[in-house]
Amino acid sequence: MTVPTLPDVKAKLLEGKRGLVVGIANEHSIAWGCARAFRALGAELAITYLNDKAQKYVEPLCEVLEAPIFMPLDMRESGQLEAVFERIEKEWGRLDFLVHSIAFSPKEALQGRVVDVGRDGFLATMDISCWSFIRMAHLAEPLMKDGGTLFTMSYYGSQMVVENYNIMGVAKAALEASVRYLAAELGPKNIRVHAISPGPLATRAASGIPEFDALLDKAKAKAPARSLVSIDDVGAAVAFLAHDAARLITGETLYIDGGYHIID
Ligand SMILES: NC(=O)c1ccc[n+]([C@@H]2O[C@H](COP(=O)([O-])OP(=O)(O)OC[C@H]3O[C@@H](n4cnc5c(N)ncnc54)[C@H](O)[C@@H]3O)[C@@H](O)[C@H]2O)c1
Repeated sequence: MTVPTLPDVKAKLLEGKRGLVVGIANEHSIAWGCARAFRALGAELAITYLNDKAQKYVEPLCEVLEAPIFMPLDMRESGQLEAVFERIEKEWGRLDFLVHSIAFSPKEALQGRVVDVGRDGFLATMDISCWSFIRMAHLAEPLMKDGGTLFTMSYYGSQMVVENYNIMGVAKAALEASVRYLAAELGPKNIRVHAISPGPLATRAASGIPEFDALLDKAKAKAPARSLVSIDDVGAAVAFLAHDAARLITGETLYIDGGYHIID
């Protein structure tokens, strides 16, 4: 892997802000696109990696980001999420933004019909892909003393039936509804909450979805922009929303899809 560099940005518009980014698996991850943009604009970051196997892919990226906090986080391991927030509290005493860019569904649940999904597959999908965001918001709330911004990644399959998206579409619908409730509950504390809904991107998570290439072809042909989305497009949007200038935008699902979702 050639280690990517940061874009050269002169105006450090996020200088002084501190954020947690969860979901970097490699240099194709949406979370990496977000982290790159935040850091290029001067923010300081805490980064997590799934486990020992993932560490060797994430660590070089973490070095590029000069992240002072680098910790393991598997949502299935009890105590790991709490440990990340304890460390943030100890080192920083506060948090300005958080990116939740993780999802998981067991293969047999994801690749079958929704009507056939078993209880364990359903619960695992909802647990890692939706509840984990609610719990992160819960732990972030006391640290966002001067307000803050919470982000999660969704997809159009939450709104429309997208072939092969299956139970993940159900989880993303719950995730987007969670964003609205969290935004309403945390808004009085100046904490904003956003779902970001990018068009399809060829990442590791996407490789679990059958016929993903056909989805990419369709996205490019149908989107008004006639273009696929990049992780840097997502990064630019979240960086703007993390800025104080976006203080009255909350509870939204923001599509970064070249306009795909407006076309019949
Ligand atoms: N790739 C796309 O086309 C696309 C489009 C819209 C939304 N999304 C969403 O974007 C998010 C990021 O996915 P990506 O496409 O960058 O793929 P990715 O594979 O790079 O990232 C997925 C991340 O989820 C993490 N993860 C999985 N199980 C976990 C667990 N138990 N605990 C902690 N972390 C866990 C993985 O370690 C990985 O870092 C997901 O929510 C995905 O649904 C992806």
